[in-house]
Amino acid sequence: RLTVVRNVADLRALVRAWRAAGETVGLVPTMGALHEGHLTLVRAALGQCDRAVATIFVNPKQFGPNEDYAAYPRGEGRDIAMLESAGAAALFAPGVEEMYPPGFATAVRVDGSLTAHLCGPWRPGHFEGVATVVAKLLLQALPDRAYFGEKDFQQLQVIRRMARDLDIPVAIEGVETVREADGLALSSRNAYLSPEERRIAATLPAVLRDIARDAPGCDGLDALTQAGEARLLEAGFDRVEYLTVNEAGTLAPASRGSHAARVFAAARLGRTRLIDNWPVTGH
Ligand code: PAJ
Repeated sequence: RLTVVRNVADLRALVRAWRAAGETVGLVPTMGALHEGHLTLVRAALGQCDRAVATIFVNPKQFGPNEDYAAYPRGEGRDIAMLESAGAAALFAPGVEEMYPPGFATAVRVDGSLTAHLCGPWRPGHFEGVATVVAKLLLQALPDRAYFGEKDFQQLQVIRRMARDLDIPVAIEGVETVREADGLALSSRNAYLSPEERRIAATLPAVLRDIARDAPGCDGLDALTQAGEARLLEAGFDRVEYLTVNEAGTLAPASRGSHAARVFAAARLGRTRLIDNWPVTGH
C-alpha cells in the first residue's frame, strides 16, 4: 500500500525508519499528471533501491507570470493509483504553505553556461525555481538517490550541478526519455494538444533525430538546424524558440570536435510549448 504524507516531518519519519532498517530509498520528484515517463523513473528507482518515494508538487516558483501554473493538469486520485501499481512505497504531496510558508525568502540559483543557453533565456527564473524546490525536496527526504528524466536534459544538468555544489549527499540519476510510438516524448503538457496538434507534434522528434544523424562530421551545423526549423514551421508549429546542437556536459553551443553533443529544441504549437532533445552519436 502507498502511504501518502503531506508534511516534511512525516516524510522524514518514514524515510528515517526505512534507512534505519538498512533499506535504501530512491526519490522521484514530479508535478503530477503522471504518465509512463514518470512511472519509468519509479521503476528505475526500484531497480536500484528498496523503496521508491514519489513527490507531487506543482511548484509555483518555476512558472513565469504568463505560463500555465493555474492550468497545469492536476489529478491526485489517478496519480496515486498509478504510483501504487508501479510499486512506490510513499507519496509526498505537500501544499504550497508547507513548501513556502509565509516569510520564505531563500532561492537557489545555478549560474554559468548550464542556465545561459536553451530554455534559460526563454524562461527567466525557471531554473531558479526548479533548483530551489529540488534542493528542498532532496534535503527534506534525504534519500540515497533521486531520479530525473533526460526529457528535461537541461534541468537534469542543473540539478546535478546544484547537488554537487551544495554537497547534498544524494546521487542524481538520469533516465532515458520515454516516447510514444511515433517518437513524441511523453509529457504532462501533451494533454493540451488537439488531435490535429498531436499529429503535428511528432515532427519535433523526427527533426531532432535527423539532425542528430547528420550532425557528425557536418561543418554547417547552422544550415542543418535552419533547415530543421523550416521543417517544423512547415509542419504547423507556430514558433521555434530554439533548435541547436549543444555540448551535453556544458550545454554550450557545439562546435566541430565537441565531445558529446545533443540536439535541443523548444517550439510552440498552439498554446503548448514542447521541448525535446536527442543525442548525437559519433560526434
Ligand atoms: P515533471 O514535468 O512532472 O517531470 C518529473 C520528472 O519526470 C522529471 O525528472 C522529468 O524529466 C521526468 N519526465 C517527464 N517526461 C518524461 C519522459 N517522457 N521520459 C522520461 N522522463 C520524463 O520536471 C518536473 O516535473 C519538475 O521540474 C520537478 C523536477 C518535479 C521540480 O518541480
